[in-house]
Amino acid sequence: MSLEVEKPVLVPATVPVVALDGPTASGKGTVASRLAALLGFHVLDSGLLYRVLALAAEHHGVGLENEDALEVLAGHLDVQFDCDGRGDSRVILEGEDVSLALRQETVGRAASLVAALRRVRSALLNRQRAFRELPGLVADGRDMGTVVFPDACLKVYMTASVEARAGRRYRQLLEKGFDASLADLTQDIRNRDMRDMTRTVAPLKPAEDANHIDTTDMGVDEVVERILIWVRQQPELAAFAHQAQ
Ligand code: CDP
Repeated sequence: MSLEVEKPVLVPATVPVVALDGPTASGKGTVASRLAALLGFHVLDSGLLYRVLALAAEHHGVGLENEDALEVLAGHLDVQFDCDGRGDSRVILEGEDVSLALRQETVGRAASLVAALRRVRSALLNRQRAFRELPGLVADGRDMGTVVFPDACLKVYMTASVEARAGRRYRQLLEKGFDASLADLTQDIRNRDMRDMTRTVAPLKPAEDANHIDTTDMGVDEVVERILIWVRQQPELAAFAHQAQ
């Protein structure tokens, strides 16, 4: 007779979600992929979807204010995300690898314009929710905890000073081989903050039940450690993350 006790397999009522929201260049992307890898969860970079749409609009000659055409384009985006298992994902738009093109600042700026359109956001809602699969999801964006996954078990709102964010974005762009000006990036970040926070649809703001973290003087490891403390305080989340490993 075996004395081994079988571990009960927990089946969640809903797939657990960790929502990470915050302004541009606050470090959410890096933290989200690190956290997802540690928890064994999937990851959603929702900004990437808006970037893909902006690029698709450029390819098809659709104007960034043409909400009718953008809504149709958003509903029919032919895009695949191939995860390489190291946190990087290749993005294939209409058969073409656009991973690097998506990281250009011009695309980020265009993304922030199309993201302000109500019908564009609705058209992309189900596509984002489809990322919610077992064992769990880490979702990074502006409205993850407020609109897309309001029932997330953990909501984190990450901020950092404009100067710190501009410096991070500057180094990131140089590493990817793009030209960048720190002064232009600083101004662009201010403009983007203003647009994201003041738009009428899904504005950037912390969910009422979000945990706040200011990462201005924190390294990535420190931020991840802090969030893991919050994860451990959520029994449901901790159980599934553990089960996934
Ligand atoms: O961080 P950064 O603004 O450079 O880029 P991103 O996260 O890739 O998102 C691109 C743009 O999409 C942002 O500037 C936001 O305006 C918008 N966005 C949004 O409105 N809602 C989201 N959930 C994610 C991004």
